[in-house]
Amino acid sequence: MRSSVSTPGTIQLDVHLTDADADAALRADVLHGLRARPKELPPKWFYDARGSALFEKITELPEYYPFRTERALLTDSVDDIARSSGADTVVELGSGSSTKTRLLLDAFGAAGTLHRYVPQDVSEAALRGAMDELHRDYPALALHGVVGDFTKDLHRLPGAEPGGKRMIAFLGGTIGNLLPAARHAFLCHVRSVLEPGEQLLLGTGLVTDPDVMVPAYDDAAGVTAEFNRNVLWVLNRELGADFDVDAFDHVALWDAANSWIEMRLRATRDMHVRVAGLDLDVSFLAGDEIVTEISAKFRTEVVDEFVAAAGFEPTRRWIDPDHRFALSLLTAG
Ligand code: SAH
Ligand code: AVI
Repeated sequence: MRSSVSTPGTIQLDVHLTDADADAALRADVLHGLRARPKELPPKWFYDARGSALFEKITELPEYYPFRTERALLTDSVDDIARSSGADTVVELGSGSSTKTRLLLDAFGAAGTLHRYVPQDVSEAALRGAMDELHRDYPALALHGVVGDFTKDLHRLPGAEPGGKRMIAFLGGTIGNLLPAARHAFLCHVRSVLEPGEQLLLGTGLVTDPDVMVPAYDDAAGVTAEFNRNVLWVLNRELGADFDVDAFDHVALWDAANSWIEMRLRATRDMHVRVAGLDLDVSFLAGDEIVTEISAKFRTEVVDEFVAAAGFEPTRRWIDPDHRFALSLLTAG
């Protein structure tokens, strides 16, 4: 990684995922996913501008406890995190609208160490929106946004400033959206781009009552259903597909054996879908499903195991009173 010096108040955006890269990645994922058994589509394709806006609406739903639980944990812990970290650069992966990050920026700012915030997201629209608002509200902070895929592009994040230290935040429980092998590879990748002593702040959903977890992914207002179906709109627009989007039901279930919530789209009738941009024809029978997302929930012992396996040492942990979400501060060993 490059070593760089940031100037207060500057704003920079690196696009490591060009439209052509994103298009090639989407094509490969759709070609593979719609021919796989079961059919699958990776969750990163939810997040075009509409999908990112729908995610923001999800965070405001009464059923979607992860967002507000993590926000409450952050509120309680940010001063401790800032004091014990001493980082001058906060990097955030999958930063989205950077809403909760403001708590971190305020605390690191008050601790007097913060120079730079580096948000990274696959959604250029979400990143640009967040950076504009942050630049207005934190005019002295250097902002260095990176449009990229956190499973591939971490080596392109800016390095530590000379004599400086970074803390990477990965919030929201987004690590639960990675399958176990991808999660391990991701954490090893994060560890490999950090210097010993630099830190990772990791938000993880914890296993709780299915009657709490399932409604969080199947809300009464149907916002999550729209978010789920949005991936089909993305395929229609980007690849010239002709999915009848309303002919797919949203499904959210708790898979206890795998310890994850699984979201699927279920065909309500037999149909043929043409994906013109891929010259691909796909058949669905009524009841056929596409797996669109897993959202793993963990026991804290499991979190301990997978972070240790990637070379992180536990530093501090905060858990809400209902034991639904954990925030772990980890140090690269
Ligand atoms: N961190 C925020 C947003 C979570 S939503 C929060 O806690 O509320 C997940 C975010 O990760 C979205 O903004 C989405 O665009 C981004 N994302 C999903 N897959 C990604 C990937 N592979 N690489 C980079 N960003 C990704
Ligand atoms: C981004 N990620 C942590 C969310 C989650 O809870 O797994 C995405 C989401 N899917 C449905 N609702 C929210």
